Amino acid sequence: MKISHRVKIKSIKNIKNLAGKTVLLRADLNVPIEQGLIKDDYKIVAILPTISYLLRYNTKIIIITHINKDNTAKPVAKRLGQLLGKKILFISQCVGHKVESAVSNMAPKDIIFLENLRFNSGEEKNNKKFAKVLASSAEIYVNDAFAVSHRNHASVSAIKKYLPAYSGLLLEKEILNLNKILEPRQPLVSIIGGVKIQTKIFLIKKLSEKSYRILIGGALANNFIAAHGFKIGRSLVDKAGIKIAAKLIKKYKNIILPVDVIVAKEISSANYKVKPVNQVDQDDIVVDIGPRTIKLFISFIRQANTIIWNGPLGCFENEHFKHGTLSIGRFIALRSTGSAFGVVGGGETIEALKITKMEHYVDWISTGGGAMLAYLSNEKMPGLKGIVK
Ligand code: 3PG
Repeated sequence: MKISHRVKIKSIKNIKNLAGKTVLLRADLNVPIEQGLIKDDYKIVAILPTISYLLRYNTKIIIITHINKDNTAKPVAKRLGQLLGKKILFISQCVGHKVESAVSNMAPKDIIFLENLRFNSGEEKNNKKFAKVLASSAEIYVNDAFAVSHRNHASVSAIKKYLPAYSGLLLEKEILNLNKILEPRQPLVSIIGGVKIQTKIFLIKKLSEKSYRILIGGALANNFIAAHGFKIGRSLVDKAGIKIAAKLIKKYKNIILPVDVIVAKEISSANYKVKPVNQVDQDDIVVDIGPRTIKLFISFIRQANTIIWNGPLGCFENEHFKHGTLSIGRFIALRSTGSAFGVVGGGETIEALKITKMEHYVDWISTGGGAMLAYLSNEKMPGLKGIVK
């Protein structure tokens, strides 16, 4: 058996003379915020080990992150301060005079937190000038933002021209754990759900090559079911998706599809039927995998030594259509407590796993959605360049 994780990672653990340095820490603290309230802080909790490590070396820490939907990073800074039991100074800019002045007043172990990087147009354009100014207040750059490392953005890409770059402890763990999927202890069983086949083609290809079985559910499966010539009623699919699915099933014989499905007339409905996959009516919508499929999928997951799961298997937001996703989630969690190594990733997938209250049983929950797909698909990741070799 090949030994996995042969990669070389330039980790903060390798930094000599770290003591007292000013560190620019790029985190991905892009958490859901509604009306100023943080809905889930798992990404904030995940970077605590890196911050604690840096504090042990009396460093001065400048934290940078992006937040989606034009939200300010202020509530995130506050939550981080609560979790660390430490005062964090929030600066309402990510570059400029206020930042320069705050940095010049920093003492060892101080933490300052800068405003949402994406408020500055230079960030998403990978603008060198912006990266240079961002870098100018620090001596060392640490990337602990695996989840955004697939983006060619200034704070993960261009920034490395201006500072010596290292990985944080979270990024390092992401790589080591995801490498156990890329070089799995066989049998590897992959479970892929979700909606858009286009975003998952490379992942499905890559995992099909490595997996003993690859189990497909969610709206994604509709493309495959249609490619077999079965009706899928009014379910979500597109012509291009069906073509892609047809090619994939022709090439990879280890792809396993639902044998029965839950159908409803509306996604919000409480009325539903279990149907064999070849008996879906014109006006049905497929909303979940059926009980025989759950049993079939579990029979494969039971044999796995390595498990990867990305994407819900049905409309789990609806009370009536959550059973496929939650049953499979529970079983993956259970197997992860035993001999199998289990990895789960993707925002909605983690949300579903959390409903089971068994997320702590799983060996690794990736903080990366798109980034996990990119890494497992072997895509180039600008944020990892020069740090992971
Ligand atoms: C994520 O939530 O997946 C990361 O923070 C990346 O966010 P993005 O897709 O907006 O770049």
